[in-house]
Amino acid sequence: MIRLNHVYKNYGTATDSLSDINLSIARGEFVFITGPSGAGKTTLLKLLFMAERATKGQILINDVNIGTLKARKIPHLRRAIGIVFQDFKLLNSITVLDNVSFPLEVLGLSRRDIKKRVMRVLKFVGLTEKSNYYPLELSGGEQQRVAIARAVVNEPPILLADEPTGNLDSELTLDIIRLLDYIHKKGATVIMATHNKDIVERFHKRLVSLDHGRIL
Ligand SMILES: Nc1ncnc2c1ncn2[C@@H]1O[C@H](COP(=O)(O)OP(=O)(O)O)[C@@H](O)[C@H]1O
Ligand SMILES: [Mg+2]
Repeated sequence: MIRLNHVYKNYGTATDSLSDINLSIARGEFVFITGPSGAGKTTLLKLLFMAERATKGQILINDVNIGTLKARKIPHLRRAIGIVFQDFKLLNSITVLDNVSFPLEVLGLSRRDIKKRVMRVLKFVGLTEKSNYYPLELSGGEQQRVAIARAVVNEPPILLADEPTGNLDSELTLDIIRLLDYIHKKGATVIMATHNKDIVERFHKRLVSLDHGRIL
């Protein structure tokens, strides 16, 4: 489902941020990308999300070579990928309901269908009662659950998470990982970057360890 062949990323600095990355991730895997700060975890996820382009090498997602993909085809492929960030990246001026509706609005569904699907996913993350709240009225853990709801509301086969528990205490961290694990069990391929060794030791998942832009 995801394949990287000899991938490099250089941001124009003296050293490569990713160097000769070779990696295959099968449909339905749960993978932790680990490594210290600066190792290249975010860069790797950005390449998969097509927020950055590889400097060299080949990346295939669902058999599509994203390096040669025409710009107008990117939105379509991106819809197959949900993404969650450390700082949630919610829109604070609109409600939880509207934040989670966002990815569905481009799909041309009716208002009613959108609301139905959003309420279903809010139930899934345990936030039915808070649909009319604004993000800043929620705790950090709740905000991250909203962000996860938004990432999965259109049921993408791939979910990327970049340090999703980085701003949460250890109790909430477990909640979030369990939620990601549940999404995985329902069939998604989940790729989560974390530098948190406790998480990696506690949940026995495939590990891809990066250091200085290389896979160890
Ligand atoms: N936009 C950028 N411009 C220049 N260097 C960058 C940029 N983004 C990341 N880097 C560098 O790339 C390396 C990997 O960064 P990053 O992928 O953010 O690592 P991690 O997520 O593991 O902390 C670091 O040395 C970082 O400074
Ligand atoms: Mg990072």
